[in-house]
Amino acid sequence: MILSSTRLAPQFLLDPEVTFLNHGSFGACPKPVFDAYQAWQLKLERQPVAFLDPDRGYASWMHDSRKALAAVVGARPDDIVGVLNATVGLNIVAQSLPLQPGDEILTTDHEYAALEKTWAYVARRTGALVRVVEVPLPLVSEEAYTQALLSAMTPRTRVLFLSHITSPTALLFPIKAAVEEARQRGIWTVIDGAHTPGHIPLDLTALGADFYAGNCHKWLMAPKGSAFLHVRTELQDIINPLVISHGWTANRVEPGPFGGTSFIDAVEFQGTRDPAAWLTVPDAILFRQNNDWDAVARDCQTMAQETAARVAQFTGLEPFSRAEFCAPQMVAMPVPCTDPIVLKQDLLSRYGIEIPCFDWKDAYTIVRLSVQGYNTCRQMDMLVEALIDILNLTKAA
Ligand SMILES: Cc1ncc(COP(=O)(O)O)c(C=O)c1O
Repeated sequence: MILSSTRLAPQFLLDPEVTFLNHGSFGACPKPVFDAYQAWQLKLERQPVAFLDPDRGYASWMHDSRKALAAVVGARPDDIVGVLNATVGLNIVAQSLPLQPGDEILTTDHEYAALEKTWAYVARRTGALVRVVEVPLPLVSEEAYTQALLSAMTPRTRVLFLSHITSPTALLFPIKAAVEEARQRGIWTVIDGAHTPGHIPLDLTALGADFYAGNCHKWLMAPKGSAFLHVRTELQDIINPLVISHGWTANRVEPGPFGGTSFIDAVEFQGTRDPAAWLTVPDAILFRQNNDWDAVARDCQTMAQETAARVAQFTGLEPFSRAEFCAPQMVAMPVPCTDPIVLKQDLLSRYGIEIPCFDWKDAYTIVRLSVQGYNTCRQMDMLVEALIDILNLTKAA
């Protein structure tokens, strides 16, 4: 039984004229969460000096967000810092690691384009090399995935950089064994979890990755500008913020100048900023609890998988993975090669459907469907009908 949309759609601020099937790019914030966000902003504007004074509440409010989020992602609150977005968190790590010429950064062919640039930049500055492993598709086993990575590791490999959920292909990478193996070999593990908080269960302590960044504005549905970086305690000393400000201390004496650890204060205090999005993270967590979001998410997963299966019936194209390696609420549906920009525009202008389309290695066009609690079965029908129409599909034999 689908319980989500009728009750939940009115709780979002999305334009009702648009069939919004792209939660994955920037998320969507429910009204009660957005109200809480604006309440923080008003409080800030009423008395900025009092608000931003660490001794008059600010330090403990920042901590409250870390604590609430830490409970959701399975971490110690002091191992988490709030950052603007996952890109910032991952840049902090990439630009802190002391890499040497000839060191290798191992990654996959499914990474987010902006982070590919980050590592290309780091490689250029340090003389390290980026090596890209082709993940065998369809992804059918953790062993195949792990093996592809292990066989590309060399004595020069210093960094393993992996998405936990991939952007173009919406795969849930089975990263645990690869992370463990890399750590045993003394390789830094850096995980891009932009899509994971609020989307899959997380236990960052058990995962054991050295560095993990995640967005709260996507599937956790907090306001934009709320993300975190998790760093294992032992490694926090090597992290340098991208911006040096009042929170930074040369000798890293504890506690830091704003009542957090020296790591937290160095990264979180970046000059004057509006922390309202970060402070709203507990409200987003509460909204999910109040609306039984685990059940909502299960319905969404069913809708996503059923829609992908219907599209596959028409295209005759195999999915990119077995169901267990597909992101629960996001699915990349391969369709026959067509111009992705034109397809995306057609879906929007002719059918009012907002959904991302990409090229995948000149072999397929990917239509990436996100399903969130505000979506309906009728919207899934509309998407299938629109694709059949635009792509001239008839049922595959
Ligand atoms: C896998 C992945 N990594 C990183 C990002 C970057 O997220 P942000 O722009 O919020 O930093 C995205 C954005 O969609 C993503 O899909």
